[in-house]
Parts: sequence; C-alpha cells; structure tokens
Amino acid sequence: MLTDPETFSNAFNFDLERGPAPDLHDPMNTIIARSDPPYHSAIRRFLRRWFEPARLRRFEPHVREIVEAVVAELPTSGRVDLIGHLGRVIPARTVYAIIGIPTSDRDRLQASSDELNANLPAPSPDLIARIRQVFVEVIQDRRASGERRDDVIDGLVHPDGDLVFDDEVAAGHLLQLLVAGADTTTSLIGNLLLRLLQEPSRWDRVVADPGRAAAAVEESLRRDSPLPFTLRTAVAGTELGGCPVEPKDRIVLSLQSANWDEQVWGDSALEFDLDRPRAAAHLSFGSGIHTCLGAPIARIEARVTIEVLTERFPRLRLAPDHAPDYLPVAQMRLLRSLVVDLDPPAATESRPVLLEVDPDRCEGHGLCESEASELVHLDDDGVLVIDRVDVPAHLVGAATRAVQVCPVAALRLR
Ligand code: HEM
Repeated sequence: MLTDPETFSNAFNFDLERGPAPDLHDPMNTIIARSDPPYHSAIRRFLRRWFEPARLRRFEPHVREIVEAVVAELPTSGRVDLIGHLGRVIPARTVYAIIGIPTSDRDRLQASSDELNANLPAPSPDLIARIRQVFVEVIQDRRASGERRDDVIDGLVHPDGDLVFDDEVAAGHLLQLLVAGADTTTSLIGNLLLRLLQEPSRWDRVVADPGRAAAAVEESLRRDSPLPFTLRTAVAGTELGGCPVEPKDRIVLSLQSANWDEQVWGDSALEFDLDRPRAAAHLSFGSGIHTCLGAPIARIEARVTIEVLTERFPRLRLAPDHAPDYLPVAQMRLLRSLVVDLDPPAATESRPVLLEVDPDRCEGHGLCESEASELVHLDDDGVLVIDRVDVPAHLVGAATRAVQVCPVAALRLR
C-alpha cells in the first residue's frame, strides 16, 4: 500500500475520526503528508531542499549545541521529568531552527503547542488557529523585513518554481512541519529512554559504549513506533490479503504491526534487543513517496540526546515509583512524563556490576588505571590486572570512565 499511491490516496491521512467518503479535494489535503501526486511531488521537491540527508547531517553540531544547552539546564542531581525538561524541548528547538522561526517567537509557539498536548486527544480548533496565526505573522514579518536566509520560511516567502504560497497555505506547511517533526521525535526520545532505563544494564551498556546509541535508536523505533499507523483512502477497487477494497474505503496501515512481524523479526520481535541485527529495517519512517523527510534529523536528535545524557548522568535511573503513562491518543505512542533520578545515591544500586577485560584486545595503555586505580592496575610486565571484578556502587562512575578511556575497547561493564 505504501508504494502504490495510484490506488491508495493520502487524503486526510492520520485523521482517524473522518467518515468513510472524504472529499479528496478538501483544502486540508494541500499539506504534504495528505496530498497526492502531482501536487505532492511538487511540494516534496520544494521542501526537500532543506531536508536533504547530507544537509541534515551537517546540522548535527547545531543539534548537539541544542542538546547540551538543554542538558546543562538540568539540575546536577534529584528527580526530574525528562519529557518536560528535555524530550519536548529538543525536537521543538530543532524544528524551529530548520524552518527559521525567530527566537523571539519560539516561546509563544511552545506555549501553544504545550497547550495542544495538554488538550489531546481533542485539541480545540481555536488553539490550532492560534498556532497557525503565529506562523502567518512570522511569514509576514519576514516578508516585511526583506531579509534573506537559508531556511524554509525564506523559501515560502520567495518561492522560485511554479509553486506560489499565500500566507495561509504557507502557514499550513509550517504547521505540518512542526506537527510532523516535534511530537514524533519527543515520542522517540521518551520511548528510547524508557526502554534503556527500564533495564538498567541496558543503560550501563550504552554508558560504557556510547557507540551503541545509534543501534538503540533503531531498536526503539522498531519496538515502539512513534507513529503506530498511517491512513490511506482507496481511489480504486482492489484486494488486500484476500479482502475486497472498494473506492473510498479508508484503511489503517499498521507500521507497528509490520515492525513486530515475527516472520521478519523472529520470536523475539516483541523484545527490545540492543544487539538486534538489521534493526534499522523497520518501517517507522514509512516507505514509498511519502517516506519521512525528517528521518535523518530525528535519528540525530535521539542519538545525540543519549550520547550527552550518558556522559553527563552515567548513573541515571528511572524513579522507583515511575509508571509509564501515555497520552490518550491512538495516533502516537507519546509518554506524558518520564521521571528519573539524575544521580541516585550509590545505595540504590540494586545489582552487581562486573568489570571485565578482554586480554586479546588489551594493549596495556594503562589509561584505565589512572581513572580507576582502586579497580585495576598494570603489573610489572604491563599486563592489566583487575583487582576487583565486582565493582562496588561507589566506584561505578570510575569504572565507567575507565571503560570509556580505553582506546582499544578492551574493558567492559556487565
Ligand atoms: C521519530 C520521529 C519521526 C517519525 C517516527 C516520523 C514518521 C513519519 C512517517 C511514518 C511518515 C510517513 C507517513 C505516511 O506515509 O503516511 C512521515 C512523513 C513525514 N515526516 Fe516524519 N517522522 C519523524 C520525524 C520527522 C521530523 C523531525 C520531520 C521534520 C522536521 C518530519 C517530517 C515529515 C514530513 C514532512 C513528512 C511527509 C512526507 C511526505 O508526505 O512526502 N518527520 N514521518
């Protein structure tokens, strides 16, 4: 279905409540995720300029600045909600930067989009209209200023192809990018942190080897699809899995179900497995002509968030009384909150942490000794000796640093 746009239209995509016979030409269907070719091809070509994968990859240092600034605002210890303090902030700031929302307008946009979330599953049309109005004003301000910049707003104000946007339509495209790029990535960051922290040994593994963050992101996308489904409307009669499909039938296409297909992922499909081969073969970003434009940047945001958090808070743990609580919306797997202890006292360590060395890899650099002299030493022959395999709680930080500084990855925590 995803690769057959001639039979299945994207009109009113994601609008689960709409009746069975939508008017495909409704103005709502001019936004990219709800449009069909040829309009879709034109608007996608237009937007792609700012979403080229290579361009988004060059954006990584900026994302890192955003993440580091947000993490620096966290207290050094104590209990915080990582969705409110971090998961909602990083994606929004990233989208604002890509589309070119001035810093001065970001707070009021954030306030409205927070209100939107608080009112789900039924946001008021007034609220949506208010957010759209902020975008209209931002577009008008840019036009009046005469300023040229390399961002989406500039493209909407000065289109150079056949497309022409009035302010309302342009605001609709910006709203679509905010909706498509913010909560989805909040969902990913929240789901990912939850899976890593639910099983502390997973978190410890990524702390010991931050290179695993990218694999963790893919496995999170597979296991907990931020957008569990998309919608299509049949424009021609056909058959799906032996079921007749009539024109105007609306079909829910479960990306989550595809990602849990045991014929593809085996018996462990429902498990979160940091070592899963080919985890990135999931369908969480869709497929075909509507494949997610923001996938590279969402991946960067999630990975960098984990890299910065594991470095800054290696002992991070879920608050013991935390119970996952999701927003009551079918369209998105979005945690309402994720309460953690940033730096729990050593006494709360609940399981033994073991330090191991791979003698075939160890080259006797000795950097680990300077980080954790109470745990390891180099003997007279330059061979690494582990003095304490069971790492006591107060030395987990030192052991983690020892693992991180080893240039040949010979040490690991288990
Ligand atoms: C984890 C985060 C994200 C997930 C899971 C996600 C998922 C998806 C999916 C499944 C689609 C295809 C929908 C369909 O076929 O009906 C899609 C489309 C889209 N996404 Fe994302 N997305 C994410 C982040 C982003 C970001 C960060 C942006 C931009 C800043 C973005 C922009 C878009 C756009 C513009 C489309 C429409 C593409 C088209 O219709 O041609 N997404 N996304």
